Amino acid sequence: MKLYNELAEWWPLMQPPRRFKNEAARLARRLRNEDEESETRPTLLQLGSGGGHLASHLKEEFDMTLVDLSPRMLGLSRTLNPECRHLEGDMRTLRLDERFDAVLIFDAIAHIIELEDLQATLETARAHLRPGGRAIFCPDWTLETYEPGVSTGGSDSNGRGMRYIEWNQPWVEGTSCETDIAYLLRYENGDVRVEHDHIRIAVFPEETWRNALEEAGFTDVRIRQRTIRLHISARAA
Ligand SMILES: C[S@@+](CC[C@H](N)C(=O)[O-])C[C@H]1O[C@@H](n2cnc3c(N)ncnc32)[C@H](O)[C@@H]1O
Repeated sequence: MKLYNELAEWWPLMQPPRRFKNEAARLARRLRNEDEESETRPTLLQLGSGGGHLASHLKEEFDMTLVDLSPRMLGLSRTLNPECRHLEGDMRTLRLDERFDAVLIFDAIAHIIELEDLQATLETARAHLRPGGRAIFCPDWTLETYEPGVSTGGSDSNGRGMRYIEWNQPWVEGTSCETDIAYLLRYENGDVRVEHDHIRIAVFPEETWRNALEEAGFTDVRIRQRTIRLHISARAA
């Protein structure tokens, strides 16, 4: 996808870190283990952490390890979150030989569109959790909640501007839907460049999520609809 590679420098204008503040607070409440008292900060592994915008609101409370496939997105995150550990890796296959108190896969889980990749990703999450540790996955949709539509946004900073339109097509094929994202990129000299990504976004049925989580070794599965995306939480058995 161009956005996470040659267009990565525009990510901070597309979704500025401040937009993640409320969502981070909601996630922190669910990730916190209030039954346990500890002198040290809980450890949190975030897979598909991108530019680290969400992490920038979680790093004070959690000792974070941030993993992403894209070196350019990791580069942005290293600048924003120099105090966090950053690693290049694929959430389907990563094995760190370490256990964390919690694992989070936020918007990046939408890019896992095949069932076998979803299963592999949930197994990665499980393999990095201590027993009883909590994982949260935040897909845009399940089949039950899917609504085709359009969203727009963007911002301006330091003489540059970016606006985008994201258009989810009405047909779901298999376990994903087609999505088009058009970007208008305005440079300091006023020139505007137009770019486009055509991608597929996951739309798994709830039952598929529940079965895959159980198969990966999770228990206590809860699916909650949030304003932006779903929160699917589960505990390592
Ligand atoms: C929307 S961005 C995440 C943005 C992030 N929430 C933030 O706060 O900046 C999605 C990220 O998922 C990453 N990604 C997609 N597939 C991946 C995979 N299989 N393993 C690891 N990262 C992946 C992309 O490289 C991209 O950086």
